[in-house]
Amino acid sequence: MRRRRPFRGAVLVGFMGSGKSVVGRELAKRLGAGFVDLDERIEASAGMTVSEIFARAGEAAFREMERDAVREAAAVPGRVIAAGGGAFLDPANRERLKGYGPVIYLEVSPETVLERLSGDRSRPLLSGAAEEKERAVRELMARRDASYRMADFTVRADGGTVAWVVDRVAELLRRGGEG
Ligand code: S3P
Repeated sequence: MRRRRPFRGAVLVGFMGSGKSVVGRELAKRLGAGFVDLDERIEASAGMTVSEIFARAGEAAFREMERDAVREAAAVPGRVIAAGGGAFLDPANRERLKGYGPVIYLEVSPETVLERLSGDRSRPLLSGAAEEKERAVRELMARRDASYRMADFTVRADGGTVAWVVDRVAELLRRGGEG
């Protein structure tokens, strides 16, 4: 029997609404590992929601906090990290997260994002009215795709249940000898 290496850690990236947090939490539970949601960390240390940070301090300040959160999260091995949708676009974050463990891109269609986030008010980058929101999702997704594809694996995350996606990710990690 192949001996498994101890779980090194893994990172979930992808667009807003791709399920990084919910899949990450389940995956961590399944692996008996810790879980870190970067946006939650940022909100806890800022004492504000992501929307409030964008409104009061601006996106650049948020990205600065995000870089700090990536650095802190990556300092402790063996956890599942759910990155916010923009975190993996920054080259320094990307290098750090790729060095942490296998990075899995949860890929979803623009239609899935629009459906999942139809009543959502917590994403400042998608805060416009329906038409504007649809344009923002399509534009941002097209612009970001190349960066997300720098992940080590891609898993289609809009065809099945959360449990199905967790199964796929766990399987990839096992095949890579982790988890
Ligand atoms: C962002 C995604 C959000 C959050 C912030 C910016 C982005 O996280 O970090 O609103 O740039 O895609 P989720 O991907 O968890 O929604």
